[in-house]
Amino acid sequence: MLEISDLRAGYGRMAVLHGLDLTAMPGRPTVVMGANGVGKTTLCRAITGLIPVWSGGIRLDGHDITCLSPAQRVRRGIALVPEGRQVFPDMTVRDNLRLGAYLRGEPGPSDLEQVEALFPILADRRRQTAGLLSGGEQQMLALARALMSRPRLLILDEPSQGLAPKAVAQVAEAVQRISESGVAILLVEQNMTLAETVGEWAVVLQGGRAEVEGPASTVLKSGAVEASYLGH
Ligand SMILES: Nc1ncnc2c1ncn2[C@@H]1O[C@H](COP(=O)(O)OP(=O)(O)O)[C@@H](O)[C@H]1O
Ligand SMILES: [Mg+2]
Repeated sequence: MLEISDLRAGYGRMAVLHGLDLTAMPGRPTVVMGANGVGKTTLCRAITGLIPVWSGGIRLDGHDITCLSPAQRVRRGIALVPEGRQVFPDMTVRDNLRLGAYLRGEPGPSDLEQVEALFPILADRRRQTAGLLSGGEQQMLALARALMSRPRLLILDEPSQGLAPKAVAQVAEAVQRISESGVAILLVEQNMTLAETVGEWAVVLQGGRAEVEGPASTVLKSGAVEASYLGH
């Protein structure tokens, strides 16, 4: 379980997150919504250790991880599917997957088998370079690569970006299956369909804080998301 309390972070002197509280737990996928530039990616970076936290705390399964390096956080069970997927286009699908296990150590054959069973398309294409995959397939690869580190918390930063509705539906299905396997999910999304399909708990960011939160079925229908885009 991820517990964030009173988190402040930003760039240079510019604060982006001003005292943000948020939780994500297994069996209750949390979806984070909010306008462009509000700080969703910054939040993902702070949780994964890619930017320093100014103050506040981040706990994973009861342990304080606020000051750990990104690599240490991966070993503790945090994996990120980054904005824009960031697969390595000139490497094969298999080698992209192997990289996902790198920080944890060499992947066992069972790791590759497990993720390839979850995403059969990646098994079919294992020797192709990742750049030849469609956008939807690259998103599956980014997801599968993250799973190679055997996370307990999976963070996804706008996985629907640039995808056709059919590919978005495949992402939703995959994330639901991962959630059902006991992994806590933190999904950053602006796509309402994906947010509604996956989210059980919803958080709307505004002004660097979790302005509204509650059951996704209530929050996503409440107009709070629209209000955040309009800035009030
Ligand atoms: N590397 C960076 N250096 C300086 N400012 C940044 C950097 N990345 C993002 N920002 C700024 O931080 C704010 C939040 O950005 P971001 O977290 O990317 O928003 P979102 O993901 O919600 O669209 C924006 O004002 C953005 O311009
Ligand atoms: Mg972003």
